[in-house]
Amino acid sequence: MNKPARFDPTPIPFIDVAAQRRRLGRAIDDAIARVLGHCQFILGPEVRAAEADLAAFCGVRHAITCASGTDALVLPLMARGIGPGDAVICPTFTFTATAEVVALVGATPVFADVEETSFNLDADSLRRAVTAAREAGLTPKAVIPVDLFGQPADFDRINAVAQAENLFVLDDAAQAFGATYKNHRIGTLAPATATSFFPAKPLGVYGDGGAVFTDDDELAQVMRSLRMHGEGKSQYDCVRIGMNGRFDTIQAAVLIEKLKIFPDEMAARERVARRYSQALADVAIVPRVAEGSTSVWAQYTLRLNDGRRDALAAALKAQGIPTAVYYAKPVHQQDAYRSFPVVEGGTPVAERLAGEVISLPMHAYLDEPTQDRIITAVRRELAA
Ligand SMILES: Cc1ncc(COP(=O)(O)O)c(C=O)c1O
Repeated sequence: MNKPARFDPTPIPFIDVAAQRRRLGRAIDDAIARVLGHCQFILGPEVRAAEADLAAFCGVRHAITCASGTDALVLPLMARGIGPGDAVICPTFTFTATAEVVALVGATPVFADVEETSFNLDADSLRRAVTAAREAGLTPKAVIPVDLFGQPADFDRINAVAQAENLFVLDDAAQAFGATYKNHRIGTLAPATATSFFPAKPLGVYGDGGAVFTDDDELAQVMRSLRMHGEGKSQYDCVRIGMNGRFDTIQAAVLIEKLKIFPDEMAARERVARRYSQALADVAIVPRVAEGSTSVWAQYTLRLNDGRRDALAAALKAQGIPTAVYYAKPVHQQDAYRSFPVVEGGTPVAERLAGEVISLPMHAYLDEPTQDRIITAVRRELAA
């Protein structure tokens, strides 16, 4: 007879990078071996091939790979000349990198609130944040909507505000490569889109990496120069101040192999999310994907608005089931960001979500028995 799920002592991984590694097997070994054979470790042929594959996948003219998702956010800001005296509106319910890059280029992040259902930037709060920026004596130049947990922000509404206020839109799709909004793939929803290939991301490599997507030829050309120290005709004849933001050839070789199985992995994540939602909708607030959007489920995040979040996390941990809280503190409440302006009226939704959200294990290799073990444990705690 099977043991009751609660006594299964096997720890469950939150994200199972090793399962994917097993599936890819020799394909990855051979891809890396080819790079070791030709020794073009910096901007080798695999980098160009990965960029072509990524651009084709998104349906966009340019994919410019770089060293991280953070660099992918920095490059467009630098290319647009955003700097001191400029304001960039950011949602406060995000990973700090979204606002960090604004401060890094010398501009000022101004924090806005998010929508309760999608956790993404609220277009009305964005409009008010533009006013807050002006009142702080800044020039609003850009907005960075984040596609949190894998679901695209509401680009129709955000782009409308951005157009009215003349803001450059930089989509932070670090968590959402592959997602769609009204049949358009991430990468095409804003003039520039940044993504991350950090190993835990939906399309992760075996180290750091990122990419910027754009249809703008001139912006693409400037960003390629910036990631290579601002090179002109050569890297020894620089035409602008740049950085070393290149993607490793070995990681590009890994990415090419991973992209081949990515559609299948997206479908598997969708199946996990559907099963979770069907089984848990009566005991917790399950995530809602907007009509016309798809999520890549970087995280599967429940909300518990009855103060039981931390007790659930502790109970699951005791049963070998990891959970995570993304994010327990909105960015504007973290010490490094306290001095930056916040939208008038504050960010009550983000602050409430910070106390309510809890993410369950989510990856493409989470089999049904493991899902059931997680579901049973969550239900037992919340139904009690
Ligand atoms: C929303 C968001 N933006 C930016 C980043 C930065 O990406 P990276 O870690 O590749 O620099 C991350 C990564 O965690 C993220 O989640």
